[in-house]
Amino acid sequence: MPVTTIQLVSTGMWAPSKVLSNADLEQLVETSDSWITERTGIKERRIADEKMLVSEMGYLATLMALDEAGLEPGDVDALIVSTATPDRLLPATACDIQAQLGAHNAVAFDVWGACSGWLYALSIARGLIVSGEVKNAVCIAAEKMSAIVDWTDRSTCVLFGDAAGAAVVQAARENGRGILANYMRSDGTLAELLHRPPAGGAGGAGGAAGAGGGGFPLEAAEISGNGYVQMAGREIFKAAVRSMCEAAEVVLQEAGYAIGDVDLLVPHQANIRIIEAMAKYAGIPMDRVWVNIDRYGNTSSASIPVSLHEAREQGRIKDGSLVLMVTFGAGLTWAATLLRW
Ligand code: UT7
Repeated sequence: MPVTTIQLVSTGMWAPSKVLSNADLEQLVETSDSWITERTGIKERRIADEKMLVSEMGYLATLMALDEAGLEPGDVDALIVSTATPDRLLPATACDIQAQLGAHNAVAFDVWGACSGWLYALSIARGLIVSGEVKNAVCIAAEKMSAIVDWTDRSTCVLFGDAAGAAVVQAARENGRGILANYMRSDGTLAELLHRPPAGGAGGAGGAAGAGGGGFPLEAAEISGNGYVQMAGREIFKAAVRSMCEAAEVVLQEAGYAIGDVDLLVPHQANIRIIEAMAKYAGIPMDRVWVNIDRYGNTSSASIPVSLHEAREQGRIKDGSLVLMVTFGAGLTWAATLLRW
């Protein structure tokens, strides 16, 4: 059978054990459990130890996925990592994960797609596998958002959390299984809605806030701001609902399905109100929508692979389930992937 698409054969995740509740945040900034719960749906998030490397987070999620797939690190042909919080600007976090794993037969590289990055990684893996260049790929998302948020800014620090997720992907073994349709878009004219201003040194996560990049050499006079995440929340909110609905519609139409056929919608976990608005507009009841934002907050591109892993563990995704994954994020970027598990 010629390879036309890929399937996810296993999943893994890692989340720090440290829980930061809304009550804890009330001690840090002027906020309240009721504001955070009502406006975002978040009750708590996980925060990684300051010394924890993003590559180690990705490594731990990958180990779990490899174990379920029955693969050894040496069997991996490609490691594709999505992260907005790389340990350092050079080399790719994927290479650091490769070294920790001992995946010496793999090509390893990163994708910068912000919250959409993991679905982008999946699409790249699909291309590599369908072309015959790669047999076993691991798509990883590892995000240490706690390192890049300003813990004195209540408008952003209450939203994010840390986590990593991974999936092993291979050629689909049966017709009608695996990824059925995929759609990806970006709009760079909206980049300023969610970004990190270039900063000298500050900003955590390896100083990856632009300073030291090609546009803002370390000595550049233009370096300004503290390097932490800045966001125009309301504008992003509207763009998110619009773009996720568009992406969902495109993949369903392409694959010849209606929203009523979807067993589980797995949306990016950024705000429960965004998820509910999207579900309402798309016409899917909330009992067929995956939600774990209450426990993790927004973990950027890790939110979808972590959700997939938990949904499988809880029996919400079974063999044959039709799963619609939809995301959006900085860039702006957005994407949807429809798959038959
Ligand atoms: O992964 C993609 C990344 N980003 C997103 O998906 C974010 C999308 N946007 C959102 O989720 C929402 O816009 C937010 C949760 C960020 C904000 O909710 P909102 O309903 O759009 O609130 P707002 O920004 O319009 O602020 C309303 C009020 C403001 O006070 P005033 O000006 O009305 O007096 C804020 O200062 O809420 C205030 N506020 C807070 N109050 C208590 C903002 N943050 C907080 C806070 N605690 N943490």
